[in-house]
Parts: sequence; structure tokens; C-alpha cells
Amino acid sequence: MGFASLISFVGLSVAAVQAANFKRVTCPDGVNTATNAACCAFFALRDDLQINLFENQCGEDTHEVVRLTFHDAIAFSTSLKAAGKPAGGGADGSMLIFPNIEPNFSANNGIDDSVNALLPFLAAHNTISAGDLIQFAGAVGISNCPGAPRLEFMAGRPNATAPAPDGLIPEPQDSITEILARMEDGGGFSPDEVVALLASHSIARADHVDPTLNAAPFDSTPFDFDTQIFVEVLLRGIGFPGTGGNQGEAESPLPKTSGENVGELRLLSDQEFARDSRTACTWQGFVNQQEKMTNAFQAAMAKLAVIGQDKSKLIDCSEVIPIPVPSSGKPATFPATKTIADIEQACANAPFPSLATDPGSVETLIP
Ligand code: HEM
Ligand SMILES: *[C@@H]1O[C@H](CO)[C@@H](O)[C@H](O)[C@H]1NC(C)=O
Ligand SMILES: *[C@@H]1O[C@H](CO)[C@@H](O)[C@H](O)[C@H]1NC(C)=O
Repeated sequence: MGFASLISFVGLSVAAVQAANFKRVTCPDGVNTATNAACCAFFALRDDLQINLFENQCGEDTHEVVRLTFHDAIAFSTSLKAAGKPAGGGADGSMLIFPNIEPNFSANNGIDDSVNALLPFLAAHNTISAGDLIQFAGAVGISNCPGAPRLEFMAGRPNATAPAPDGLIPEPQDSITEILARMEDGGGFSPDEVVALLASHSIARADHVDPTLNAAPFDSTPFDFDTQIFVEVLLRGIGFPGTGGNQGEAESPLPKTSGENVGELRLLSDQEFARDSRTACTWQGFVNQQEKMTNAFQAAMAKLAVIGQDKSKLIDCSEVIPIPVPSSGKPATFPATKTIADIEQACANAPFPSLATDPGSVETLIP
């Protein structure tokens, strides 16, 4: 490039930056600027959620709100809609607008915690719709989880006008065929996208699957958005962490050891997704592939967050979502005492990746 053209190239890019800056609006709070005035209200909501609900942590409240993003959004059915029946509105906040209806459905057991946690924020930030609040809170919350992607956030979902019908939320005792069909009908998800969404179970602890257990983690690192879930669900099950044998519960590789330590809980559906020929290679393909997993999760969540909505009418306010806490960088491992010999290899086309084993004894397996 000649000197003159270099000058004009630099000049052009400065002009482009200035044009972009020029388009930013100063928000009424006098502190923030945004690409679109419609994003302004979300700065205060973000700070309120971070301080007063999540406490900047990838803890229970974050986990529950991430689960709520799914249960609000997937309650939509393309086929029921085509048949002219009540079909749910998808990511429309119906869970918050009708808090005495959908949270009572059995598949939503425990969701009332996150609904009750968010209702005061809906009342306090009353220019924001319930559907926006749920998806925004999920994106803000997950940014507290080391290794999570920065999720897209689109604003402008109208408030729900009707509750979703019962029966649209997948349950862990459902077959993979049933769950894949529901995910296709609900959000147009491919089997690969469903596996990507299950990266969410990396930050999960069950309270209701086994009634004898509280906060039983799905993997050994429930406060990190990492690939351990994809390793640990492939380990051979050797017992139940609680009373066991409950609907939707599979044998865990790390059952109850001692004291407060409740062991790991495995969902029957996760067990089967990891082993089904339609999904096993995608499942194994996320093992120790942090970036591949987070990219796939981010893309699938962008689709989930707008189920039932006309995305072209929404405004991109992703800039309000915090930059996530970075991953620790620790590679995936076999939990203490486990090795490749404990893996139930299910993908026919690729060997299981080589991983180190964490130090320690079986008593130190679960935080
Ligand atoms: C597709 C089939 C799925 C099934 C059958 C399923 C089932 C479950 C069950 C039974 C629990 C335990 C709830 C409890 O006992 O407290 C759970 C937890 C959770 N799920 Fe899923 N899930 C699925 C997909 C998803 C998706 C797509 C997401 C999010 C994108 C998600 C996010 C979560 C989170 C974050 C938790 C942990 C909640 C907590 O720790 O309080 N799940 N899931
Ligand atoms: C839903 O459950 C709540 C809490 O148990 C209860 O107060 C409410 O009446 C129930 N609503 C319906 C429609 O059954
Ligand atoms: C949505 O409904 C809630 C609860 O009724 C209300 O507080 C809020 O103002 C509504 N938001 C919008 C954007 O309509």
C-alpha cells in the first residue's frame, strides 16, 4: 500500500469510528451510552441483578435463572400452533406473568425459586417485559461462571398474553427420541444443538430429582462452565447418590461418600444423550474442547432466547451483558481415582481424548 493510500485508509477508518460513536446515545442515567436508547434501561437492571440477586457469583441463583431461560422459552409448539391450539409463546415471560400456572407443572418442579426471585425485579424495572427480564437475567448470571460465553441479548419481547399449555418441557425420564422431537418442535433445534445446550448442565445441581438430596451436582465442578459434564456423564455408573432409582435418575460414577458430601447426580436423559448414536459423537466432541463447547452453546442459546419471537423486531443490546469471568484454563480431567477404563465409549468414529486423573481419593471427589 502506498503512503497516500495508507493515509486515506486511516482517515476512512477514523471517520467510520466517529460515525459509530456519533450514533451512540447517552442514557438518562448520565453514566452509560448505548447504541440504541432501548438498551438504556438494562444497565440499571444488570447492576441490580448482579448486586441483589447473583452477588456476582455462579451460585444457586445463577443456575436456577439459567434453567428458567430454558423452561420459559421451550414452552412453545410449532405443531400445536399450526393446529390452531394453545401453543405457548416461547421466550415471552409467561412464567412470570402467570406465576400460579406454569410453575405448577411437574416438569417445572423447583422453577418457582427463580420465578419468585425475579418477580420483584419485574416490578421494580417496569419498562422491561417479563420475557426480556428472564433472558437478560440468564445472560447476566452466566457471565459470573468462569468459562461461560458472553450470550447475545435481544430486547423487545412483548409481555406474554397467555400461559403455555402443560407438557412442553422435556423431562429426564423422557426418551431421547421424545426429547429430540420436542426440541425440534419447540425451537427447531438439531440433535447437535440440543447437546450444545446441555453444556448448561455443567453449572447445575438437582434439588428435586432425588427427593432425598439437595444440591446434588451434575459434575464435580458445578460453579465452572467447563467441559467436565461431558467427561463425567460418560463414566460408568456405580450407584445412586441418594435413595436412588427415582424416575429420571441414572447411576452416578461418584455416589455418596460421607458427611455433607452428597455425591454426583446423573440425569437419565444426560446418560442417554451421551450414549445414543444420534448424539454420542457430538457429546464426546466437547470433552476438553472449551472453546468449541462455548461457541456452540452461545449459538444455540441465541436461538433459544428468541423462540416464538420475531427476531427482526428486537434490538441487539448484547453490549449490556458483562464480559464473562475467564475460564481457569484447567484442562478437563478424570475425577480422582477414575481413568479411561471407566469411560463407556459410545462414539464409534473417534477415540476418547486422553486426559489426566485428578489427585486425591474418592472422599475428595465432590466440592
Ligand atoms: C433437554 C433436556 C433437558 C432435561 C430433561 C433437563 C432436566 C433437568 C433437571 C431434571 C434438572 C434438575 C432440577 C432440580 O431437580 O433442581 C435440571 C437442572 C438444570 N437444567 Fe436442565 N434439562 C434439560 C435441558 C436444559 C437446557 C437446554 C438448559 C439451559 C439452556 C438447562 C439448564 C439447567 C440448569 C442450569 C439446571 C440447574 C438448576 C440448579 O442448579 O438449580 N437444562 N435440568
Ligand atoms: C400453584 O401452586 C401455588 C403454590 O403451591 C398455589 O398457591 C396455587 O394455587 C397453584 N395454582 C394453581 C392454578 O393450581
Ligand atoms: C409486563 O408485565 C409486568 C407485570 O404485569 C409489568 O410490570 C410490566 O410493566 C410489563 N412490561 C411491559 C413492557 O409491558
